[in-house]
Amino acid sequence: MNRRQFLVLVAAGVAAGCADTLRASFGPPLVAATPSGPRKVASLAALTATPSAFPLQTANGGDQVYAYKDGEQVVVLSNVCTHRGCPVAWEAASNRFVCPCHDGTFDRAGKVLAGPPLGPLMAYSAMLVGDDVMVQA
Ligand code: FES
Repeated sequence: MNRRQFLVLVAAGVAAGCADTLRASFGPPLVAATPSGPRKVASLAALTATPSAFPLQTANGGDQVYAYKDGEQVVVLSNVCTHRGCPVAWEAASNRFVCPCHDGTFDRAGKVLAGPPLGPLMAYSAMLVGDDVMVQA
């Protein structure tokens, strides 16, 4: 199938308002959706008082979170900037998260410090299962 045939097929599917046309043409999705559920972030022993990045498999695919110990609590934050969705990074030297896209900054709890983001980084509700830090994702 060339590009033109593909576009015609997509347009036909959209025009018909019917995803079945596309599904019948391409078959089942290559990547099955991952059902939501508790996901392991890291072992508790892997966490320190400094935010560290960990991969997280979510229902929508892969994501990255920052996790750290705050006294007796575990904090798990999304790395997705609440402005336009760029990945933020922990900047230890300035003790804050920095978004490279528009210079948004967040404190270690995810609260906006400066820049265009209007809301805090999304915080996951963390739970401990055995020695594993888990979140609902
Ligand atoms: S996407 Fe992060 S500040 Fe704009």
